[in-house]
Amino acid sequence: MPTADTETKGPGATSDHPSGDDRFELLDKAMRRGRYGQDQLIEVLHVAQEVFGYLSEDLLLYVARALRLPPSRVYGVATFYHLFTFDPPGDHSATVCTGTACFVKGANDVVDALAREHRVAPGSTTEDGRFTLKTARCLGSCGMAPVVVVDGEVRGHLHADAAIDEVAARLATTDDRDSEEAV
Ligand code: FES
Repeated sequence: MPTADTETKGPGATSDHPSGDDRFELLDKAMRRGRYGQDQLIEVLHVAQEVFGYLSEDLLLYVARALRLPPSRVYGVATFYHLFTFDPPGDHSATVCTGTACFVKGANDVVDALAREHRVAPGSTTEDGRFTLKTARCLGSCGMAPVVVVDGEVRGHLHADAAIDEVAARLATTDDRDSEEAV
């Protein structure tokens, strides 16, 4: 049975952390593994994003301090790479691969359709925080192009209409849960 203490821990956390947020323990572990090397910055940012879901300003400062790098350098590196995101993700997300194979099979139509349907620009989250639309370079499943990762699940051959239906179905599951909780 979970205790109040274990309930506050992040996934995979193993011990208490002075910050009170044990997800930092995972990040610390990654930095320790890399001996706090400044050349590990990109790897560390990847871990930070995996663990926290996005890179907040506090997180960037934390990494800068730990690796003894100027915050401007950390911020500069993080913003240079499209892989990093700085806003909290929405309840649901779709990441459309825009690599060559997917592009040829209509990935841009998928991006445009989802952006239009949800009135959200690629790379951002709807105002109500329910849906995030992202794009990515080749996801390594070119034979299934166009590929869209919906809520962490890789979906192949997902053309525009199917992508809209898929995302609508995901959003509907939370709608149902919300209305059940409201009863
Ligand atoms: S180009 Fe989309 S998976 Fe490779």
